[in-house]
Amino acid sequence: MRMKNPVSLAASSLACLARAVIRPGNLTGAVFEKRYGMEHGMRIRQTVLGLAVVFGYLTGSPCGYAQEDLGTGKETPAQRDARMQWWREAKFGMFIHWNTSCVPGGVYHGKHNYFVGEWLMHDEKVSVAEYRSYAKQFNPVKFNAEQMVLLAKEAGMRYVVFTAKHHDGLAMYASKVSPWNIVEATPFKRDVVKELADACQKHGLRFGLYYSHAMDWNNPGAAVPGGIWDKAQAGEMDEYLRKVSIPQLEEILSRYGKISVLWFDTSYDMDRRRADMVRAVLKLQPGIIINDRLGGDYPGDAASPEGSIPADGMPGRDFETCMSINDTWGFKITDQNWKPRKVLLEQLVDLASKGGNYLLNVGPNPEGEIPAPAVKRLKQVGEWTKLNGEAIFGTSASPFKKQLPWGRCTKKVDAAGATLFFHVFQWPTDGKLAVPGLKNQVETAYLLADPAKKPLQTAADAAGATIHLPAAAPDKDISLVVVRVKGQVDIADQP
Ligand code: GLC
Repeated sequence: MRMKNPVSLAASSLACLARAVIRPGNLTGAVFEKRYGMEHGMRIRQTVLGLAVVFGYLTGSPCGYAQEDLGTGKETPAQRDARMQWWREAKFGMFIHWNTSCVPGGVYHGKHNYFVGEWLMHDEKVSVAEYRSYAKQFNPVKFNAEQMVLLAKEAGMRYVVFTAKHHDGLAMYASKVSPWNIVEATPFKRDVVKELADACQKHGLRFGLYYSHAMDWNNPGAAVPGGIWDKAQAGEMDEYLRKVSIPQLEEILSRYGKISVLWFDTSYDMDRRRADMVRAVLKLQPGIIINDRLGGDYPGDAASPEGSIPADGMPGRDFETCMSINDTWGFKITDQNWKPRKVLLEQLVDLASKGGNYLLNVGPNPEGEIPAPAVKRLKQVGEWTKLNGEAIFGTSASPFKKQLPWGRCTKKVDAAGATLFFHVFQWPTDGKLAVPGLKNQVETAYLLADPAKKPLQTAADAAGATIHLPAAAPDKDISLVVVRVKGQVDIADQP
């Protein structure tokens, strides 16, 4: 394990603090947003994160984390690369937030709750007994795991991460540990984790599970930010970890075949000792990938910026931005703020160009379906990835130090040279795509949408390369120009 120097420790602490403040869905985030409004709250959180990232970067501790023990024991960099390979290539996953909270769907006794749907119990201080009564109405008979997984596949997603247990504590599978599980507590009685695991297996997608290991508003003793509001929640954290969290993690990691990702969430009250207790379960799934939310200052395998894309990526760090297709994570009746195709594609591309993954969230409704507007958009994204996936999957980050003015770049490097994929957001009206700083000789350039790969005319000068494009963009949002260069990619420093 690498020791941190005092400066990097300070950076790490500042960044940890910033992360605690900026994370939407937690108490501080909620306070900011309630106090200053959604937009201002967001801006404040983003500024704090930005400062922490810059400070961490300047002190050599990007985002406050030192690359140390990654949670699965000791491994060489080559072993780590091998373990991370599928995930780095995958780029795009489906996050599914689903539990009892979809029944009230953000409405409590006729009042629309301001915050994200899955936090309703906490925000409205709903008693354990009343919240559990929602489970009696949770009968999502239209749920079809295969359809959901096929939709993810159609969108181009390569993995699924599903909430095995969110903060409301309902295990979405047949847990022997607590009767507060979907099989015993709801009329539905089906093991959703199993159905999704089987469907992913059948259709060739990697399967991962989210598990709220520290916070739980139903199983007593767990961390409850702001304190408990119902004596049924009272208890002791270590006992909760020993009796609920750890045995449930053991269940989900041993019963459903290969689990490729374990997505911890919120590390309230998790010190190093507790994190070590929990971390021991990882041995059940050799090769598993974990995020950075276990607690105890474990950096995990990948950082998990929430709802935002770091401006300069996270150099030296694997990362995955989780983002919802609307504003909430769990289903919320009033949230109709669906991101359009263009935004979803730009986020996917932006992340790929920064070497990050895009974990795009959907929240199924009480019938068990992904809301129709989300389905529509995922299909639109799928039409694009079907034609342009080559420029996303298996690519690595842009070699350009400065962001390209008209879009983004991803690349694939091989022994002879490299293929550069130019994702053009703004198609040039004068037909000339200027590529500032490209020093390599262009071997060939063509439109990805052109099956004939008809060569585009190119020119080079001191400023870089120019590619001559047809007047009409092949795609209304993002069109791909592919450029093949010889040798190592060589980009001049930009002023
Ligand atoms: C937050 C929230 C939670 C959501 C998650 C997604 O930590 O507490 O509701 O599951 O982030 O990133």
